[in-house]
Amino acid sequence: MPITTQQLSQWKQQGRTIVALTAWDYTTGRLLDGSGVDLILVGDSLAGMLGYETTIPLTLEEMLHHAKAVRRGVKNALVVFDLPFLTYQESFQQAMHSAGRALKETGAQAVKIEGGYPAIVETVAHLVQAGVPVMGHIGLTPQSVHQLGLRQQGKTPTDSERLITEAIALEAAGAFSIVLEHIPSELAIQITQKLTIPTIGIGAGSGCDGQVLVTSDLLGLSEKQPPFAKMYVNLSAAIAQAVQSFAVEVRDRQFPKK
Ligand code: KIV
Ligand code: NA
Repeated sequence: MPITTQQLSQWKQQGRTIVALTAWDYTTGRLLDGSGVDLILVGDSLAGMLGYETTIPLTLEEMLHHAKAVRRGVKNALVVFDLPFLTYQESFQQAMHSAGRALKETGAQAVKIEGGYPAIVETVAHLVQAGVPVMGHIGLTPQSVHQLGLRQQGKTPTDSERLITEAIALEAAGAFSIVLEHIPSELAIQITQKLTIPTIGIGAGSGCDGQVLVTSDLLGLSEKQPPFAKMYVNLSAAIAQAVQSFAVEVRDRQFPKK
C-alpha cells in the first residue's frame, strides 16, 4: 500500500523521521522508491535539469510530462507534484485547475505550493476542502527569487514571527506537511514543535520531522548546489570517467571487441 499523507502525521507522533527526495524521471523515481524513500517530490527544481537558470520559466506542461514518468516508477512512496510559478496564484479556479491536472493526469497523490501569505492560505483551504492534499513550503521560496534572492530567511525577529504565523495558518488551512527551506535551525525547531503536521527541512537544521534534498545535489549531478546540500556521491566525475574510457576505447578500436 502506498504511503498516505495521514501516515506522515502519525509518524511525527511516533518520532519516526520522514525521508524525502526529489525525482524528475522514471529511473530516478524507481531507484528512490526501491531504496525506501518515503516521499518523492517532483520538484520544480526540474528547471535546473532542463537548463533553466531559475524555476520561473518552468511550465505546467513540462511538470506534467516529468511527473507522469516519475509516477510510473513509484510503488510505495507518496508522490508530491510541485506546482510551478503562477499556476496557482492567479485565482482559486486556476489553482484548482492546475492541481486537478497534476493529480488526474499524473497519478501524483498531492501538490505542493510555495508561500504562507493570506491568499495562499485561502488557496490551500480551497484545495484541501475539494479533496486535494496540499504540502506547504515557506522560508526560502525559490519561485520568489527576484524578490528574495537565495538568502536564508527568518533571520530577524519580525521575519521569524511571520514564518511561525504562516506555518500555523497553513496547518489550520489543512496542509498535510510543510517544507521549511533555508531558515535558522532554532526557528525550524520552534515551528516543528508548534505543529501537529510534519515539517520537512532543507537547509533548516536537524530539528525537523523529516529531511528533503534535491537528488542531483545528493548525487553530485548539479552544476551548482546550495551550501546546505550534501553530496553523497560524485556521479559527475564517474560519468566523465566512463565517457572518457568509452571514447578512448572507440578511438583505439578496442571497443567493441572483434
Ligand atoms: O523543487 C524542489 O526540489 C523543492 C525542494 C527543494 C523542496 O521544492
Ligand atoms: Na520547488
